[in-house]
Amino acid sequence: MQISLKGQVAIVTGASSGLGAGAAKGLAASGAAVVINYHSQPEPAQKLAQEIIDAGGQAIAIGADVSNEQDVEKLFAETLDAFGRLDILVANSGLQKDAAFADMSLEDWNTVINVNLTGQFLCARAAVRQFAKQDIRSEVSRARGKIIHMSSVHQVIPWAGHVNYAASKGGVDLLMRSIAQEVGEQRIRVNSIAPGAIRTAINTKATSGDAEKKLLELIPYGRVGEADDVANAIVWLASDASDYVHGTTLFIDGGMSLYPEFRNNG
Ligand code: BGC
Repeated sequence: MQISLKGQVAIVTGASSGLGAGAAKGLAASGAAVVINYHSQPEPAQKLAQEIIDAGGQAIAIGADVSNEQDVEKLFAETLDAFGRLDILVANSGLQKDAAFADMSLEDWNTVINVNLTGQFLCARAAVRQFAKQDIRSEVSRARGKIIHMSSVHQVIPWAGHVNYAASKGGVDLLMRSIAQEVGEQRIRVNSIAPGAIRTAINTKATSGDAEKKLLELIPYGRVGEADDVANAIVWLASDASDYVHGTTLFIDGGMSLYPEFRNNG
């Protein structure tokens, strides 16, 4: 099966590094014009846009804080100025502010919920509003638009020391499924990706040396994931190859969510 996203425009939030950057590259390689949203790091975002352009693709870097309503409006308006329409949103921006529960500050709670959950609400709402103004172009895609939420295995696996993060991802699950239930009849397709442990800059400590060995005990498939594992799934979910997939979470986790500690116990 050949996947082409030619003629489609995608926004990827939090795309200056990690999974967002991987998603932007994958979508661009499949022919989509890509908006590389960044919050605080313009240089890597602009560099990535340039790489995509040099390889014959279309890309632009746009700064915006996804937890800020005006910034999100600006992100979508600048996308329309640059490319004239929107077909795909990858709501990827997310962060962690870890602390033991009793020590967790309200500020760290709010920051994580604002970016990981409210940010996904604001971006998905802006995307649905834009999709509603556009006609379906059946020669390009059977859907009016596609939204892919970046969740985590921690939408189902509780995570001590990270309650703000786990709560935000649990929220993303019902946010995604409720939106999907509501907008499906407009032919807007909404799904989530739930990655496990992926080798990105943010996870360097957990994915090298002794820490990696310990981490592998939690991964039945026996390897840490790569950004491309996630990007490939995003490209598929954004394409008509998955046209009947709606309201689903795709776990890209090497089996981390299979209760691996039960392999030799219970
Ligand atoms: C987190 C990673 C973590 C993984 C598995 C992800 O959502 O961002 O830091 O390694 O879940 O626990």
